[in-house]
Amino acid sequence: MSEHLQIEREQGLLTLCMHRPDKKNALTRAMYSGMAEVLVQADQDKSVRAVLITGGDSCFTSGNDVADFIQAPPTGLNSEVFQFMQALFEFSKPVVAAVNGPAVGIGTTMLLHCDLVYVSRDAVLKMPFVNLGLCPEYGSSLILPRLLGHARAAELLLLGQRFTGEQATAWGIANEALNSGAETLSKAREMALRFQQLAPAAVADSKRLMRAPGREELRRVIEEEGALFGQRLRSPEAIEALTAFMQRRTPDFSKFA
Ligand code: COA
Repeated sequence: MSEHLQIEREQGLLTLCMHRPDKKNALTRAMYSGMAEVLVQADQDKSVRAVLITGGDSCFTSGNDVADFIQAPPTGLNSEVFQFMQALFEFSKPVVAAVNGPAVGIGTTMLLHCDLVYVSRDAVLKMPFVNLGLCPEYGSSLILPRLLGHARAAELLLLGQRFTGEQATAWGIANEALNSGAETLSKAREMALRFQQLAPAAVADSKRLMRAPGREELRRVIEEEGALFGQRLRSPEAIEALTAFMQRRTPDFSKFA
C-alpha cells in the first residue's frame, strides 16, 4: 500500500485519505493502485457500509501527478488510474467525498462518481484538461453537459475555468458548501455514518437503480475518452503544457496550427 494513503475504520465507515501534502496530494500510480485495492476489498467486505474519500482539511488533490504523466503516461484500461476509476464506478455501496482546498482534474472528475459530496465554500475545483493539451476523462464529457447544460459545462471543460465549492453546490455537483475544512470533514463523516443504521441491501439496490439509466452509453463514452486521453498525452500540445507546468512557465500553444 502506498505510504501516501491513510486508511481508517470507524464502525462500518472506511475513510480513504489521500496524503501527500508536499505535492498537494498529487496522485501517483502507486496511490491509484492502492485506492483501487481498498475499494475492491471494501466492496466485498460486508462490514463496510460506506466509504469516505478525502484529502484532509486543506487540500483534496491537485490531480494526476504531472511528472508521472510525462515519465509514465497511463496506457489504456489496465493503467492504475483506470483501475481506480473503474473500482469507483462499479462500487456498490455509498461513496461520500469531503472536499477542501484544490480539487483539480481527476480530483473533480471523481466527484461525479461519488454519491454525496460535501465541500468547503472556498474549495477550488477545476478540470484544466484543455489547458494541459488533454481532453475530458471518465465520463465527464457526458455527465457535465447533462447536469449543467452545454454552456456552463463548456466554461468548465473547454476553458478549464475554475469554480468554487459554493458554485459546485448551486450547480448540483455537491450537496452542501460548508464554512471550513473541519466543518466539511465533520459533515461528510456524519452523513457517511448514517449508512450504518440503514439496510445495506436496500441502499445498494437504490444506488444501482439511480445509476442504471444511460450506464451503457456512459461506459462507451468512458472508453472513447480514455483512448483519446492516452493519445493526447503523447501529443506535442500536451508535452508542451506538461513540461511548462514542471518548469513553472506558461505553455506556448502559438506554434500549433
Ligand atoms: N503533479 C505533480 N506535482 C504537483 C502537482 C501535480 N498535479 N500539483 C502540485 N504539485 C507540486 C508543485 O510542483 C510543488 O512542488 P515543489 O514544491 O517541489 O515545487 C508543490 O506541489 C506545491 O504546489 P504549488 O503549485 O506550489 O501549490 P499552490 O498552493 O500554489 O497551488 C494547485 C496548488 C493545486 C492549485 C497547483 O499546484 C496546481 O494547479 N497544480 C497542477 C494541477 C494540475 O494541472 N493537475 C493535473 C490535472 S490533469
